[in-house]
Amino acid sequence: MEPLLDRLGRPLETLRISITDRCNFRCVYCMPKEVFGRDYAFLERRELLTFEELARVVGIFAALGVRTVRITGGEPLVRRNVEHLVELLAAIERPDGGSRLELALTTNGSVLAQKAEALAAAGLGRVTVSLDSLDDDAFRAMNDVDFPVQRVLEGIDAAAAAGLPVKVNAVVKRGANDGDLLSLADHFRGSGHVLRFIEYMDVGSTNGWRLEDVVSAEEIVGRISERWPLEPVAAERPDATARRWRYVDGAGEIGVVASVTQPFCGGCSRARLSAEGRLYTCLFAARGHDLRAPLRLGASDKELTEQLRTLWTRRTDRYSELRTAETASLPKVEMSYIGG
Ligand code: GTP
Ligand code: 5AD
Ligand code: SF4
Ligand code: SF4
Repeated sequence: MEPLLDRLGRPLETLRISITDRCNFRCVYCMPKEVFGRDYAFLERRELLTFEELARVVGIFAALGVRTVRITGGEPLVRRNVEHLVELLAAIERPDGGSRLELALTTNGSVLAQKAEALAAAGLGRVTVSLDSLDDDAFRAMNDVDFPVQRVLEGIDAAAAAGLPVKVNAVVKRGANDGDLLSLADHFRGSGHVLRFIEYMDVGSTNGWRLEDVVSAEEIVGRISERWPLEPVAAERPDATARRWRYVDGAGEIGVVASVTQPFCGGCSRARLSAEGRLYTCLFAARGHDLRAPLRLGASDKELTEQLRTLWTRRTDRYSELRTAETASLPKVEMSYIGG
């Protein structure tokens, strides 16, 4: 099959689907309590794509060349019966002789201990757990709902016990958790889980992002390497978000997602679907393209396929490469809405 390429020659390979805009955490860099409190205008249930609608859309994307689907949120595990969605997606056959999609899930880990086995049994391929600090006080302050770090660690263990490969994502914000880099690295060295540090980004317009709060990948790698020397590892895929580094002493590897200081739009093969069925061709887009209306008005697979083809072939997004002080303050959708 000919790959579907955008205007910059990038294929469509990954689809990230947000299945809810709600979350039980209020991380300071994502859904600050002052803004999202209890009265925030979250989507109503009927506005969300149903699991059946999602499976249909994902099937169409798979036929267009998508290989990886990441389920995200908000917090995807707060939506009831996510296992069922995983089952539906795991049954989708790709055009190249029927191989299956690679299914990944991003979670804050808060209920992973209860859900890991069912998710693995349903056909999930791997999980990524967000964990910004191992210090219980710092962690409770960052999630801002007083959630203890121990329960997230139990979720990680449960996922590993269920046979799911685990990545751990830590957003680094200066003054909040930049003192915890070494303890995070120490904890996950030799665990088999890949820890990834993420530069704090100017996503959405509610987190009060300032360039001064970003800790650069260079600084992160420098600080860890001083304690445990690191050497670079080649990327697994041309569209990878993280640059990989290996501990010289053999204790595994870490990754660094440097979308602020070393943007990676050049290989970006990611499309994003919001929980209400809007398609975004960039994390930083201000607007998405509504797929729910045609879906609910009875559009055929062929019609939907044509819409997606047109959207992707017109795509020119490369926000992180163009980011300036001015663009950082433009209106953008929230990460909790579009999915990390
Ligand atoms: P893997 O397939 O496991 O490598 O996952 P991933 O790195 O593609 O996805 P993940 O959700 O783990 O992404 C890690 C972080 O990278 C996200 O939380 C975002 O902060 C950032 N990120 C992911 N995708 C993009 C993107 O397309 N653009 C930018 N600027 N940042 C991204
Ligand atoms: N900068 C970088 N990553 C963010 N995330 C949320 N907000 C931000 C931000 N401002 C990502 C984190 C988290 C995931 C759910 O979303 O990786 O783990
Ligand atoms: Fe929830 Fe993840 Fe956002 Fe934190 S970063 S508020 S866990 S969606
Ligand atoms: Fe892709 Fe947009 Fe992120 Fe660049 S900023 S990597 S184009 S999602």
